[in-house]
Amino acid sequence: MSGALPRETPVAVLGAGTMGAGIAQVAAAAGHEVLLFDQRQGAAESAQRGIAETFARLEARGALAGAAAAAQRLRPVPDLAGIGAAGLVIEAIIEDLGAKRALLRAAEAAVGPAAILATNTSSLAVAAIGAALARPGRFAGLHFFNPAPVMRLVEIVRGAATEDEVAQILTATARGWGKVAVAARDTPGFIVNRVARPFYGEALMLLEEAALSPEALDAAMTGAGGFRMGPCALMDLIGHDVNFAVTHSVWEATFYDPRYRPSGVQRALVDAGWLGRKAGRGFFRHEAAAAPMPKPPAGRKLPDVLPLPGGGVLLESDGRSAACRAAAFGAPVVLRDGILGAGGGIAIAGPEALLPAARESLAAEGWIALPMPDLPGLVVLRTAAMLANEAREAERLRIASRDDVDLALVQGLNHPVGGSGWIAAFGAARLRTTLEALRDHYGGDTRYRVSPLLEQP
Ligand SMILES: NC(=O)c1ccc[n+]([C@@H]2O[C@H](COP(=O)([O-])OP(=O)(O)OC[C@H]3O[C@@H](n4cnc5c(N)ncnc54)[C@H](O)[C@@H]3O)[C@@H](O)[C@H]2O)c1
Repeated sequence: MSGALPRETPVAVLGAGTMGAGIAQVAAAAGHEVLLFDQRQGAAESAQRGIAETFARLEARGALAGAAAAAQRLRPVPDLAGIGAAGLVIEAIIEDLGAKRALLRAAEAAVGPAAILATNTSSLAVAAIGAALARPGRFAGLHFFNPAPVMRLVEIVRGAATEDEVAQILTATARGWGKVAVAARDTPGFIVNRVARPFYGEALMLLEEAALSPEALDAAMTGAGGFRMGPCALMDLIGHDVNFAVTHSVWEATFYDPRYRPSGVQRALVDAGWLGRKAGRGFFRHEAAAAPMPKPPAGRKLPDVLPLPGGGVLLESDGRSAACRAAAFGAPVVLRDGILGAGGGIAIAGPEALLPAARESLAAEGWIALPMPDLPGLVVLRTAAMLANEAREAERLRIASRDDVDLALVQGLNHPVGGSGWIAAFGAARLRTTLEALRDHYGGDTRYRVSPLLEQP
């Protein structure tokens, strides 16, 4: 195994925008001299000033020692002649194949033959960028997440030609920089941008059917689901243009796999210019500064079967619809969602006449009932089934190992658990039942096809 890049080896960062500045900050904080290049006049200098201010703030808070020395390790360079000493070059310019190829070719000619070149691309194939190089074996993907100094995950992506040693050095270097490094194959969306799609996609499917309002959907996902942020609030934060483009590119690159099908609901928001927080409006209005998220009330653990006053029962969903469960149970049934979270909203579905009693029974246990149409898997179970299925598909397609997929979901996306965690919480059989019921409900939609690996760990 090859070790990390020595601290005394300079790192070049090409592109001093959002990601380049963040990556330069990480490398300088870790002790490397950082040669920063951007074609836009003054951009590298402005990133340098911003990072120096951040370092000073971090030192004042006791989170960093030697801020001034760290800031002095950042050196803007006016052209690629200035990066000759770099042992690692990280490209973070615009997401354009031609521009990345041309710049990396020029960078390769400027550095020594042993230097490693890496791209921070989110959606382009690493092999396609590397194909332009004279030494594609010394090239790989090094995918940081935004904001790079805060997000711990880094995906190390091997192109077809990437040498083992290069992947090993990048992995050890990222770990030495305090990151959690996972190995991803060079496939559309790598791990995170692919496996995360159901979190947004199933929410958009539910909104399309007007099954729940964005507010109720987010309350169900943060309450019963245990997610830190609901999908609607998160899409508003990411920006609907960006989120739609990522979904679209993964869908296209997977030859229109229905699992990644973009949503008309989101396209309508993009068309209207309701791009989310940055536009002041998305699913929600964002005129004022973001209010801190209210903490949901703590709910008690619910029994699998709760008799309702006045007749009927409240059952935990097993993935099938309430109508289907009632026929098997021999009594009217209201279903509640699966629970991983500690309290707050929980989706319920069943006959109209029983909903008030179900709402009161849940309120007595500290939960806020969110009635919705009788769709298989309600909200959390449906999302969990799709996330776990996607995680196992990533493993089946050898995009990454089971452990790395789980790590990517938790560290890259802040999900409460990874694919294995959803399977442990709800059971593989229940998640499979949910997917099969959804497939049947939507007329055999292969979006809900079950992974052969979706089984108990
Ligand atoms: N923003 C994110 O959330 C995010 C997350 C992960 C990966 N990425 C990827 O990181 C890369 C950069 O994204 P960003 O959000 O930092 O973009 P950005 O627009 O903030 O910054 C890009 C910078 O590159 C510079 N640039 C453009 N063409 C150049 C060239 N030919 N030579 C030198 N500099 C050039 C621009 O002047 C700009 O400063 C993209 O590949 C993107 O897909 C972005």
